[in-house]
Amino acid sequence: MKKMIAPSMMCVDFMEIGKCVRELERCGADYLHIDIMDGSFVPNYTLGTDFIRALKKNSTLPLDIHLMIERPEQKLDWFTFGEGDYVSIHAESTPHLQRALTAIRVRGAKPMVAINPATPVCAIKHVLDDVDAVLVMTVNPGYAGQKLVPATLEKIREVRKYLDQSGYAHVKIEVDGNVSFENASYMSKAGADIFVAGSSSAFAKGATLDQNMARLRESIE
Ligand code: DX5
Ligand code: ZN
Repeated sequence: MKKMIAPSMMCVDFMEIGKCVRELERCGADYLHIDIMDGSFVPNYTLGTDFIRALKKNSTLPLDIHLMIERPEQKLDWFTFGEGDYVSIHAESTPHLQRALTAIRVRGAKPMVAINPATPVCAIKHVLDDVDAVLVMTVNPGYAGQKLVPATLEKIREVRKYLDQSGYAHVKIEVDGNVSFENASYMSKAGADIFVAGSSSAFAKGATLDQNMARLRESIE
């Protein structure tokens, strides 16, 4: 399976967004990762519906929309997404997880179920027919620039094994949080397919976006 990179748009220089998107298109980003926070499910606010609309209008790259919001099933119509885009929702964010994932599929996108570091792998067991990917959070969601929760490396391995053994080998694993050049290599070996590149890699200081993307590509392949 081809390994993919999804640079995190909450880490771009907001004064240079257009230029940065052009650069990401040039240096082989596979998706644009967009963090949506509601100040309730996670203690922060970041990007929003208009930002997604602007990206859809101005870039051909598919989106990877990460909804860190309570009761996502009630808010899906607020967001612009479609064929080729991933939309992830958290298993912890709704009592109607299966309904919400189905609603994403009905709207034409690829549903992804996300789990926080403390959420056990069995939380995804009964929705595997309804997803194209599992997002294993490798930090607690809410902020960029946090340290990896070490137990999540083993968790990636566990999810990969579980998917492969239960007939869901086609379901991809995304990792999000402190995907540094070093951590990304371990995550890749553990079975991750999609790497959210934030302040730890693509937007790390001291090198260009282009150099960082090439270095990350090297460490995951
Ligand atoms: C965490 C966010 C990430 C963050 C990851 O909730 O989803 O997108 O930007 O980047 P790092 O951890 O490298 O700053
Ligand atoms: Zn994210």
